[in-house]
Amino acid sequence: MGSGIAEVCARSGVDVVVVEANAQRAERSRAAIERSLDRAVRSGKLDADERPVVLERLEVTDTLDDARGADAGIEAIVEDEQAKREIFQRLDDLLPDAEWLASNTSSVPIMKLAAATSKPDRVLGLHFFNPVPVLPLVELVHSIMTSQDTLHRVRAFAEEQLGKTCIDSQDRAGFVVNALLIPYLLSAIRMYESGFASREDIDRGMVLGCAHPMGPLALSDLIGLDTLQAVAVSLYDEFRDPAAVAPAVLNRMVEAGLLGRKSGRGFYDYTS
Ligand code: CAA
Repeated sequence: MGSGIAEVCARSGVDVVVVEANAQRAERSRAAIERSLDRAVRSGKLDADERPVVLERLEVTDTLDDARGADAGIEAIVEDEQAKREIFQRLDDLLPDAEWLASNTSSVPIMKLAAATSKPDRVLGLHFFNPVPVLPLVELVHSIMTSQDTLHRVRAFAEEQLGKTCIDSQDRAGFVVNALLIPYLLSAIRMYESGFASREDIDRGMVLGCAHPMGPLALSDLIGLDTLQAVAVSLYDEFRDPAAVAPAVLNRMVEAGLLGRKSGRGFYDYTS
């Protein structure tokens, strides 16, 4: 999702430093952005002349220090609370003058990340949806320490700069959308696991019967099964609702590295 967020920011005119974990990921991220821009040019959403201008605004690197001096930061790493806390600590040191630091977390409470910094009032959740260039929503999540000024600035950035629509959420695991969506996806996986219906029929049922753009198993593959599992764990930790327990088949698939689209295989095969 990080590359999608970077693309949307650069297309809106913002200079972006995209920091990936290593050189190989940095290369993949740049290639993903280039492919997405090509798609936008093909579908008439971006002028061909604009493509190089957008790319010029993006610096893709594997060194967090390259982001020094940025006006703001958006973290979009794996759904791992400890790893996210470490990034927030480092951003806090690296960007002492940044106006705000946001997390694109799907479920980790924002207060836990804000508490890793020296200025928790400038930390909030800014949660995008996949594919970021297509879906118009962002969730604004304020912790009990987020200042009104931070909320105001980030709302203006999301709405006026990026052209997104904001909804506000309290700092509760899953926020608004995932608190509703994830138990539904887990139910579909349980239905598949129990042999109740085939994966194709479960997906077809929700596409043709409820006009969803994609079925729950295909959507799980798009989100990433590791992310889905991590959000389920956060939801269960917070609410102790059995509907948020990750089904065994999901756990086994994550252990096997079958993570959905990003690994080439999940509930469906994407290799051919
Ligand atoms: N990047 C950029 N643009 C993309 C894209 C991508 N990865 N995928 C599709 N698009 C664009 C296409 O260019 C196309 O644009 P035009 O209409 O201008 O040509 C448009 O989206 C539709 O794409 P397609 O015709 O290729 O395919 P589709 O109609 O089947 O749509 C989809 C694909 C946009 C993914 C659609 O199925 C969809 O919206 N699915 C639901 C996705 C969803 O629910 N996302 C939320 C997941 S939850 C989450 O992200 C948060 C979390 O914390 C877990």
